[in-house]
Amino acid sequence: MEKRIKEILQTPATGQEITVKGWVRTKRDSKSVCFIALNDGSCMNNIQIIIDKETANNTLLDTINKLNTGASCAVSGILVESLGQGQTVEVQATDITVYGEAPDDYPLQKKRHSFEFLRDIAHLRPRSNTFAAVARVRNAMAYAIHKYFQENGFLYVNTPIITESDCEGAGEMFQVTTLPIDKITGELDYTKDFFGKKASLTVSGQLCGETYATALGNIYTFGPTFRAENSNTTKHLAEFWMIEPEMAFCDLDLNIDIAESFLKYVFQYVLDNCQEDMEFFDSRIEKGVIKKLQDVINSTFKRITYTEAISILENADEEFQFPVSWGIDLQTEHEKYITKHFNGAVAVTDYPKDIKAFYMKLNDDGKTVRGVDVLVPRLGEIIGGAQREDDYDTLYKKIVDVGLNPEEYYWYLDLRKYGTVPHSGFGLGFARLIMYVTGMENIRDVIPFPRTTKNLKF
Ligand code: 4AD
Ligand code: MG
Repeated sequence: MEKRIKEILQTPATGQEITVKGWVRTKRDSKSVCFIALNDGSCMNNIQIIIDKETANNTLLDTINKLNTGASCAVSGILVESLGQGQTVEVQATDITVYGEAPDDYPLQKKRHSFEFLRDIAHLRPRSNTFAAVARVRNAMAYAIHKYFQENGFLYVNTPIITESDCEGAGEMFQVTTLPIDKITGELDYTKDFFGKKASLTVSGQLCGETYATALGNIYTFGPTFRAENSNTTKHLAEFWMIEPEMAFCDLDLNIDIAESFLKYVFQYVLDNCQEDMEFFDSRIEKGVIKKLQDVINSTFKRITYTEAISILENADEEFQFPVSWGIDLQTEHEKYITKHFNGAVAVTDYPKDIKAFYMKLNDDGKTVRGVDVLVPRLGEIIGGAQREDDYDTLYKKIVDVGLNPEEYYWYLDLRKYGTVPHSGFGLGFARLIMYVTGMENIRDVIPFPRTTKNLKF
């Protein structure tokens, strides 16, 4: 394969012939010389192309007019040491092929654009520095996630996207149907539907993940999930990717150990492998983001119960928008306060059973469940997980209590009927992770094509 700009910039210049391909970021044209900054997306830096107008032939001179910001081209020339600042090598062009010109209305002219503006041109924003850096970090994180689990003996399982079960029991599912709505009643007869029953897009792969964990040991999923949450916030997407490990013979403490080692591993990976992009985020997006990640890596996650968290919040020296009392669901402002209080990542466990999903294991007190949320400084919840209810009767009762139909969950109950084991797992929202490591403040800017309420492009 041809060398890309990232590699060429690290190659010692010995006057060798070279070809680079990419898109013009800027052009500076004077009487005797023309400088082009060319980028191919392989790294943040551009390579400088020099056209010496005094020695160039007419064909080469003609291409200069076509090389506006946004144009694509292949440049052949000599790789020489650069005397200019900020780069070590540059290319003295001998031949340029223009693939496609870019007229003056190319939206990404050299100036700073707002993220709102860039969201509107979602098809072109990967050509900007910030979105290219986000894409590279996202790629590196996906790789690190697989690497962590593969190196630790987890099996990758693909769970279905179309499902009949509501894992989180929150009724936030998108329906999948091929039926026309009944003109008279406005209702759907699901027996006539594609699957012969009501079907939805999954909100989590966990329940299916459990069937594999209770057969094969430790597994993980990494796939798209969907939530029809009508919350127009900077942290919620209607479609997002989730990583869900599930471990057999694993209690809540071990679950948190794994979540902690996993998060630290992927943070270290991005610091080691995306230095240039991380420096960009540190200087342009969130000052101190690198130190924030290093601090988490070097810390031990504090572990407290929900009840302890509530008492810390009740004694807080801060007014909260949402009043605090035992039984409330923790809001982001509360979660951020807790991480500030402990100056680091905190795993909060043992939540009131009524605010958590039906599958969490009931504690002996009959009031709380073995759920955990991992909270990180400046963001709040990044991971949600639990030890699963492994007792058949307790789970059966819970399913009935929350209004689900135990017949539809017979298969999930069977895992407790036949050879039940203590098991646990957690879910990490991939976009939340990317927000955290890049410092990007809006979740719409860390997924290539965001889907949120009233917003669907392409
Ligand atoms: O806390 P949640 O709802 O937990 C579950 O879905 C469990 N089934 C996970 C498990 O135990 N296997 O979601 C898990 C994580 C959250 O902590 C958050 O990072 C992310 O998924 N998340 C979202 N990310 C983007 N947009 C949304 N609407 C999200 N909802 C949850
Ligand atoms: Mg949660």
